[in-house]
Amino acid sequence: MNVQRVGVVGGGRMGAGIAEVCARAGLGTVLCEVDATAAHAARDRVARSLERAVGRGRLERTAAEDALSRLVVTGSPDDLADRHLVIEAVTENAAVKSEVFTALDKIVEDPEALLATTTSSLPVMRLGMATRRADRVVGLHFFNPVPVLPLVEVVPSLHTAPATVVAVEHFVTNALGKAVVRSRDRAGFVVNALLVPYLLSAVRMAESGFATAADVDAGMELGCAHPMGPLRLADLIGLDTVVAIAESLYEEFKEPLYAPPPLLLRMVEAGHLGRRTGRGFHTYDQG
Ligand SMILES: NC(=O)c1ccc[n+]([C@@H]2O[C@H](COP(=O)([O-])OP(=O)(O)OC[C@H]3O[C@@H](n4cnc5c(N)ncnc54)[C@H](O)[C@@H]3O)[C@@H](O)[C@H]2O)c1
Repeated sequence: MNVQRVGVVGGGRMGAGIAEVCARAGLGTVLCEVDATAAHAARDRVARSLERAVGRGRLERTAAEDALSRLVVTGSPDDLADRHLVIEAVTENAAVKSEVFTALDKIVEDPEALLATTTSSLPVMRLGMATRRADRVVGLHFFNPVPVLPLVEVVPSLHTAPATVVAVEHFVTNALGKAVVRSRDRAGFVVNALLVPYLLSAVRMAESGFATAADVDAGMELGCAHPMGPLRLADLIGLDTVVAIAESLYEEFKEPLYAPPPLLLRMVEAGHLGRRTGRGFHTYDQG
């Protein structure tokens, strides 16, 4: 399958970023949201991101304009019918995602077309089984912000055909110019399975009074040259997202190191979700 026409379902943080990199790569891209209003908001998200790239000197203005002209936004899933590859990037909810896959299976006309999910925590196999073409369904786990971070984890399920993996890896490396690592269909894949226990250890350190949040972060930034300490990174990811990934890791492996610590659970319940809400382990200017 030579992927020329791409569809993206869901135009939030990840979907807008994925649509942007596809359009920047010269591919005709259809971005589908829940309705026309949400679709226009997603287009604005892409336009602002392109504008930032131009402002930072990372992209020519004409290239940004060309990319935006290749992007079609819609509130109608039927507009995905002629796509070669559709990447699902909707809310991390098993029922919502399964419904999307069942619908895509009916809508996308080419039986050879590829369907991908950006899920961070759900089994790719289960989403494949919501379709009648589980052999064409694969995980493509991008990283936020998508236009900046070069990695995509490719996650075949037990049902995914080898040809599907070859086709999506070719797409990610050749069309998008990103790097691939391949992971088994296990909670967390490679990166989150390593990253999340590290973040949880930092939370436990702050929780037990072992060190302050500022010192935990300074330790890793200055002592290990990490660009961001673990608690600042948890705030950036969103503490609710960290809990969701930790819970899926814990459910899968039953290892205590994956269990979300009480402080983290309380902060999420209190609505202190990190940078997004202005308060997490650190405070942020909402402006
Ligand atoms: N945020 C991250 O850092 C990150 C990183 C890697 C993967 N992911 C995964 O990417 C996916 C999306 O995450 P996000 O952070 O972009 O979420 P988000 O909440 O920012 O965006 C989700 C979007 O999906 C839309 N949506 C919901 N149901 C829909 C439907 N039926 N049809 C069309 N659109 C629909 C919503 O309107 C919303 O705009 C999740 O599976 C998440 O686990 C997120």
